[in-house]
Parts: sequence; C-alpha cells; structure tokens
Amino acid sequence: MDILAIESSCDETGAAVVRADWDPTLPGGDPAPRVRVLGEAVASSMAEHARFGGVVPEIASRAHLEALVPVTREALAQAGIDRPDAVAATVGPGLAGALLVGASGAKAYAAAWGVPFYGVNHLGGHVAVDALGEAAAGLDQAVALLVSGGHTQLLHVRGVGAPMVELGGTLDDAAGEAYDKVARLLGLGYPGGPVIDRLAAAGDPAAFAFPRALSRPGDAALDFSFSGLKTAVAREVEAAEREGRELDVADVCASFQEAVCDVLTAKAVRAAVEVGAGVLLLGGGVAANSRLRELAAARCAAAGLALHVPPPRLCTDNGTMIGVLAAHLIAAGAAESGYGCPTDPGLEVETPLLTAAAG
Ligand code: KG4
Ligand code: ZN
Repeated sequence: MDILAIESSCDETGAAVVRADWDPTLPGGDPAPRVRVLGEAVASSMAEHARFGGVVPEIASRAHLEALVPVTREALAQAGIDRPDAVAATVGPGLAGALLVGASGAKAYAAAWGVPFYGVNHLGGHVAVDALGEAAAGLDQAVALLVSGGHTQLLHVRGVGAPMVELGGTLDDAAGEAYDKVARLLGLGYPGGPVIDRLAAAGDPAAFAFPRALSRPGDAALDFSFSGLKTAVAREVEAAEREGRELDVADVCASFQEAVCDVLTAKAVRAAVEVGAGVLLLGGGVAANSRLRELAAARCAAAGLALHVPPPRLCTDNGTMIGVLAAHLIAAGAAESGYGCPTDPGLEVETPLLTAAAG
C-alpha cells in the first residue's frame, strides 16, 4: 500500500510517499509492517520567523498554504505515482492554523482520489519514524525523549501506533525554545540551537554553575523547567554589561548547554529505568545537539539501555514520520478517520489516531 503523508504542525511543511507491506492474514493485524520511503520533500518557514526570534503562527500557516502543493507534487514525482492508496496527515498536537492547512489539504487530496484519510498524532510520528526500514527492535517497551522548539516530553512507548503515556514534560519553555531565547540574549540570532552547540565546543562547561531545575529529591521527578536557567544566563549578561566586562560567550554557551543536557539525559534515563524500558529514543530538532547525543550515549551505556537516534532529517518534523505511523495503524487494522476528521491543537499522547465524530 502506498500512503501520501503530510505534516504541518509547526514551521515545516513535509510530504512523503511511503510504501508499506504487511501480512494481511495475521489475526489482529500485522504489528510489524515493512515501510520504505518512495519520495519525500520538506519546506521550512524558519527563515521567515528569524526576525521575531520564534515561530509566528500566522506566518507559519501562510507558508504552509504556499508550500503544501509543491512539496506534495515533489514527493509524488519522486515516488513516480499519481495516486496513492491512502492519505494521512498530522491532526495534532500543534499550531491550530498550521494543522488546519495541512489536514484540509490532505483531506482534499484524499477526496479527489477517492481514497481513505487517516488523521494521526504528530508525537506518535516522531516515535514511529524509528521503525522505518529494518524495523528497530525494542519499541514495544521504550521511552522517547522528544525535544524541539515546541516539545519537551518524556513518553512511555509500548509499540508503534499504540497509545503513549506522558511521563514528564516542561512546566515552561521547551528545550529548543530555551536555546533560542538564550541565543537571543547573547545576540547570536535564530535558531539558537546550532550556534550555541558550535560555540559551546570552545567553552568550559563548568565556568558557570547554572541551575538544574527540579532535580532535588521530592521535585516533580520527570518534569522539566528551563525558565530559571534562562534568567540565570540573563543575570550574567546584565552583570557583565553593568561592570563593563567582556562576557566569555563560549563559556556561557558551554555551561548553559551542559545544564540543559545534564537534566534532559538524567531524567530520560531515570524514566527508562523506572518503567523497565530497554530503549531510549531521541527525537525533535534538539536531538541534533552534539552534547545531548554524547551524554545520552554515555548514560544509556552505563544503565544498559540501547540509544536510538534517527538521522537528522527524520528527527526534525517531516512527512515520512507521519507515513510510518499511518502504515503501522493501518496494518494493525485501524478504521479510517473519515473526511470529517477534526484537528486538535492539544491532541493527547494517548490518541494515536483521530476519527470524525459520529453523527
Ligand atoms: O524539530 P524542529 O526543527 O522544530 C521546531 O520545533 O520548530 O526544532 C527546532 C529547534 C529550535 O529550537 C532549534 O534551536 C533547536 O531545535 N535545535 C538545536 C540544535 N539544532 C536545532 N538545539 C540544540 N542543539 C542543536 N544542535
Ligand atoms: Zn515535532
């Protein structure tokens, strides 16, 4: 079965065509379909948000409207098909207007071709992409750490396409948002993650004792908070200005990055050990961070966990992840969502697939 999949929850417009093969004779559906990518294209409106220091929802929605048809045509052309057997799209969580553009476009394609529509969960897609190709083992009992400009979540995964459980999340800023805000404080531009990552390599991670929020016994053990860390960096910047000193930006970057990655990896490994998971999976734009990968690898090895990190193009938002999730849901026998399927900006992690309300 060929599936056209569309992603538009934030500032990337992704389209992909995936081909899924499974055994239809298995009772209860095939839990391990083989999925491969036939075509994929992504457009990003990141540059249009740069002067605002973060994603502006209205600009993102307009950019999706412009990019949707070109990226879809590109994915179909690469795949060499004119009509897939099903269409899937992200219906939540995400920005309301952005979701509406992608899901409406996807439903219009499905209706025009007369094929079923599946409305799926964006976060489930970040997890499912790890099962692309040679299905990654261990996703029946795993913890996912999803970190980007929009999410910071620890999720308990019990199979691709199965309802997930949120073990922890951020009380304020997302991890990527913290990078972007600190970069802004330091005058480093947007997005902040890549430049802080690069500058941190030349700095001393112990130069500043930045706070690790919610890390004391009795604190919300698997939740995160980054606003105090951001304030601590702001204080250093202000103090240096007041005293007319030059601030060592590389040291600030390294110390900030160490604080973020220390907390993320410590809690992720603790979560995995607590639920008895054998795999820690990283996803989201911040998963590209060199220190996060290094520390996660070291701590997973020490705890006897396997670390899965998808390639960078599949860590950031993309259509392929939506296609892989849809393939697993369809192979497991899920009913189609219907063209009346809504979008839900606050879609819960327990809901892998949305359907049109009855009646
Ligand atoms: O997944 P993504 O492209 O989507 C959005 O959330 O929009 O993630 C973008 C985020 C930005 O906040 C960016 O600063 C961060 O990921 N990021 C990084 C790195 N590369 C991107 N953060 C830390 N280190 C990096 N190397
Ligand atoms: Zn995402």
